[in-house]
Amino acid sequence: MGFGSGKGKAILFGEHFVVYGFPALAAGIASETTAKITRVRSIGWKLVDNRPAMPGYKEKKYEEQKASIENILNHLGIDTTKLGFQIDLEGDLVCASGIGASAASCVAIVRALSDEFNLDLDDEQINAAAYIGEKGYHGTPSGLDNTASTYGGLVWFERDLSGGTPKFESLKLEKPMHLVIASTGITASTKVVVGDVRAKKDADPAWFEQMSEEYTKLVHDAKDALLKLDADKVGALMNRNHELLQQLTVSCRELDVLVTIARENGAIGAKMTGTGRGGNMIALAPDKATLNQIAAALEKEGGAAGVWTTSFGL
Ligand code: MEV
Repeated sequence: MGFGSGKGKAILFGEHFVVYGFPALAAGIASETTAKITRVRSIGWKLVDNRPAMPGYKEKKYEEQKASIENILNHLGIDTTKLGFQIDLEGDLVCASGIGASAASCVAIVRALSDEFNLDLDDEQINAAAYIGEKGYHGTPSGLDNTASTYGGLVWFERDLSGGTPKFESLKLEKPMHLVIASTGITASTKVVVGDVRAKKDADPAWFEQMSEEYTKLVHDAKDALLKLDADKVGALMNRNHELLQQLTVSCRELDVLVTIARENGAIGAKMTGTGRGGNMIALAPDKATLNQIAAALEKEGGAAGVWTTSFGL
């Protein structure tokens, strides 16, 4: 039996911009997806997906998930015309758009296959194989999600647009920061939303360039502020990043409602995270008491489909 796991993540800064080579910051969260590979007598692979998930998530992603697993098997040279196994997915990561669920499952499956077939893959090879798996979900992944899922922790990430190895750096903070994650319950297609942003960018390159210039300064300032533990500055930059994402048209009414409620209940900053048009929102809290207050308000007033509290930076 082979076993593997992959962490969930929240993008703190830079979703969508990261696709075009601009830097992004992501925080690994404690929840993870696990994969188990068990050999069976019949030929081919079979999936048993027992991950907790937002309603409709698994059905919506199923075809992409099949393509993703085929991509991984081809990349690793595992020929399922001659052998058979079952893949069991489990874990405490609740699958929702924006939490890196697809990347976490790719990383978990690659690790479990490496374990079962004695491939002895190191993290770099696991990350590379998970990236190929992510391509099953959307054609042009930046690689941020699988990198955050493979390594965990707080990561600074820059895609190499010429197809080379991305630049990635693990950051450590002297003290952890508190984060609330809330789900709209809506599952978005990353492929569609990323495609829409590309169409907008192509239709008005000057507009996108101007916004990207502002974003680039913002993400460098965010890195400095995080390392200095300047939570007020980090929060203000999250708020501005949310406005830029609104301009990219990837936020939506449900996300904006959650962002407003989080801010009204003590969040230092709040923004959508991940693909958008549904999925999740994140809010930075100054302390644990406020963290719980924000989480309760998001559940009661915001009607969030799921609310989680976590910390990042250590
Ligand atoms: C999705 O979690 C993040 C996006 O930036 C896409 C990507 O990075 O591949 C929207």
